[in-house]
Amino acid sequence: MAIEDQVQQALSELLEAGATIEELYSSLGDTFERERAASGSYEDIKVLRDRWLGRKNGLLAATNQHWLKKAPRELKPKIGQLQNKIKQSFEVALAKALKELDERQLAHPPIDVTLPGPERRIGAKHPLQVTVEEICSIFSALGFSIAEGPEIETFYYNFEALNFPSDHPAVDEMDTLFIEDKVLLRTHTSPMQIRIMESQKPPLRYLVPGKVYRHDTADATHSPMFHQIEGFAVDKNITFGDLKGTLDHFAKRLFGSSIKTRFRASFFPFTEPSAEMDVTCQGCGGGGCRVCKQTGFIEMLGCGMIDPNVLKAVKYDPEQYQGFAFGLGIDRIAMRKYEINDIQLLYQGDIRFLRQFR
Ligand code: DAH
Repeated sequence: MAIEDQVQQALSELLEAGATIEELYSSLGDTFERERAASGSYEDIKVLRDRWLGRKNGLLAATNQHWLKKAPRELKPKIGQLQNKIKQSFEVALAKALKELDERQLAHPPIDVTLPGPERRIGAKHPLQVTVEEICSIFSALGFSIAEGPEIETFYYNFEALNFPSDHPAVDEMDTLFIEDKVLLRTHTSPMQIRIMESQKPPLRYLVPGKVYRHDTADATHSPMFHQIEGFAVDKNITFGDLKGTLDHFAKRLFGSSIKTRFRASFFPFTEPSAEMDVTCQGCGGGGCRVCKQTGFIEMLGCGMIDPNVLKAVKYDPEQYQGFAFGLGIDRIAMRKYEINDIQLLYQGDIRFLRQFR
C-alpha cells in the first residue's frame, strides 16, 4: 500500500473512532518516536528521515496532502499549526539522535587511530630492467644512443634488408610468428639497424633493447617472447679491432675486469665476417665445469662487421662507410647474473620472486 493510502487509512480509522485532530497528530508522533528509538545507526537515521520528512514521498508530506488540503476551511489553520509543530519536533529528535551517535562513536571509535597503518611495500625493478639499464649505461658512456623499435615488423626489415636470401632457411629456423603475409613479430632486434640507418647519416652508434618473438615452446630455457639488445656503429674506417675492443670493454664492465673474452668465427647473413664472443665462465672462473661443459667459456653474443649488402640496402656506400654490429640475449645474461635457473620466472610477475632483486 502506498504511504499516502496508509496515512489515509490510519486517518479514517482514527476519525471513525472519534479522535480529534490533536489526537491524530499525537498518534503520528508516537509512531515516529517508536521508530526513532529503534534506529541505532547513521544509516537507520537516514532511512527514518527520508521516510518521515522526505519532501515528496515522506509521511508528513502525505499527511499534508490528505489532511491540510482536504480539511474543511475552519480546521485548516489548526492543522497547519500542528503540521509545522510535528515537523519541527521530528527534526529536533533526529538531530539529537545523530548527536548521540556521534558521541557514542567518539567514546568507542570503531578504529584505533594510534595503531600503525598497513605496510606499503616499495616496488623493485625487474631483474631484466636492471640488466638492460646496466648494459645501456655501459654503452652510453661510449657515446651510443638508445632507441626502440616496433615489435610488429615487416618481412623486409626483419629479413630481406638484412641480407637473408629469399629462400634462406633462417625464416623457418628462427621460428617466425607471422601475422599476415610479409608482416610478422620480429624475431630479433636487428631490423632496427636498417630502420635507423635508413633515416640517418653516419657516424652512428646505437643500442636497441626490446622484445623479440619466436615460435618456441615455453620451458626452463625457452620462451616465445624474450629480450635482446642490438648494438651497432657505422662510420669511416671502422675495423674488426674496434668491434673487439668495444665488446671486450663491455664484457669487463658487466662481469668484472678479470674476465677474458674470445671470438670464434660464426655466420650471420647480415655480418661479414661474423663471430661469436665467449666470456670466462663465472661458475668456475675458467677452470672448466658442468655449466661451461669444461671449456672455461660461455657464449655471450653474436657480432660481426656489417655486410656490404646491408649497407647498400640503406644506400650507404660500403667503400666509404663500415660498421660493426652485435646482438645479445638479455634474459640469459640476467639469468646468469642473478643465478636464475628458469626463464619462466622472469615473466610470471610473482612478487615473492621479484622482491629478491631490490
Ligand atoms: N640477430 C641475431 C639473432 O637474433 C643476433 C645477432 C648476431 C645480431 C650478430 C647482430 C650480429 O647484430 O652482428 O640471432
